Amino acid sequence: MGLFDLARPALFALSPERAHALSIQGLKSGLVPPARLKDDPRLQVGLGDLCFPNPVGLAAGYDKNAEVPDAILDLGFGFTEVGTITPRPQSGNPKPRVFRLPIDKGMINRLGFNNEGHAAALTRLEARRDSPGIVGVNIGANKDSTNFVEDYVKGIDTFYNVASYFTANISSPNTPGLRNLQAGEALEVLLKRVFDRVDANSEKSGKRLPIFLKIAPDLEPSEMDEIADVVKASQLSALIVSNTTLDRDTLTERKHAQEAGGLSGKPLFEKSTRILAEMYARLGDKLPLVGVGGIGSAKDAIQKMEAGASLVQLYTCMVYAGPCLPSDIVRGLSTHLTKHNIPNISELVGSKNGDWI
Ligand SMILES: Cc1cc2nc3c(=O)[nH]c(=O)nc-3n(C[C@H](O)[C@H](O)[C@H](O)COP(=O)(O)O)c2cc1C
Repeated sequence: MGLFDLARPALFALSPERAHALSIQGLKSGLVPPARLKDDPRLQVGLGDLCFPNPVGLAAGYDKNAEVPDAILDLGFGFTEVGTITPRPQSGNPKPRVFRLPIDKGMINRLGFNNEGHAAALTRLEARRDSPGIVGVNIGANKDSTNFVEDYVKGIDTFYNVASYFTANISSPNTPGLRNLQAGEALEVLLKRVFDRVDANSEKSGKRLPIFLKIAPDLEPSEMDEIADVVKASQLSALIVSNTTLDRDTLTERKHAQEAGGLSGKPLFEKSTRILAEMYARLGDKLPLVGVGGIGSAKDAIQKMEAGASLVQLYTCMVYAGPCLPSDIVRGLSTHLTKHNIPNISELVGSKNGDWI
């Protein structure tokens, strides 16, 4: 039994938000010990100029304010994504707004982009600017913004010199109207403005940062077609599939099931993997995909990659499994490659895409 197993009952006696705050404190203070493994070159993933030491990242929403990116990387993650960060600080929705579903190993949240805003995160990221490791910045819009698109533009301008990559998050279900940006024409307008700013900033800085786009799993086939057409014609570097779902169909647990918000964790695995496979079928090798949703083991990560993901991210299952999860998964990936005599993890990508369609 590990340290986390001993601490879990006490942590779970707290509200999810209290437990989350405590875990951030634990990482900040060094109370959570590092668990980084020696890099396995077979797990390296290249994406543009970025070289990911392994394909397992922390998903956005845990380190919203860029407080602990280096401690997260020390847990064995190949990359981390801070945010979602909005231009101005905002408090989010009234509490309670995060609910554990322990039987299903899921979570429902309607946080509503609670975060300290651009300035606070920028100060922290500037302080670690010369540190190694891939730290993406996930950007979003203030709830009361009069122009959502311009909030993303501000994000690009603000963090251009401290981010490894950007994620434009247009798929949170908790900011009314945000998911409308996924519609074809609105998405084209957003991406045009975003890449205008990437052009301007890359001219100034001499480096071109990759832009990822994060989409919802609640999409009809025609909506997926529309998104695929737009992103294919864009300069995006990756598509993240997916954010949380509004669906409750896969829940067995009744308590909290009807709470409003986005569902994540195990009950999201099937759906997000199906949408991932659908997008891989549409985009093929034209655009790398990042698979997110319900990953809690090396087997899950492998399934995401076989469905079409070049990289994966996780959050919710770590709440249940503890901080050893990333290194356990990374070790499991290496073992899988050895067992099946696979020279490089990239060989898994899309290899069982058809099973999910
Ligand atoms: C409490 C919580 C907060 C989240 N906040 C964000 C966020 O700010 N931005 C974002 O893009 N995704 C956010 N997410 C979604 C996750 O990044 C991820 O896409 C989703 O939870 C599915 O992965 P998982 O099942 O491994 O958690 C959040 C998820 C949870 C559980």
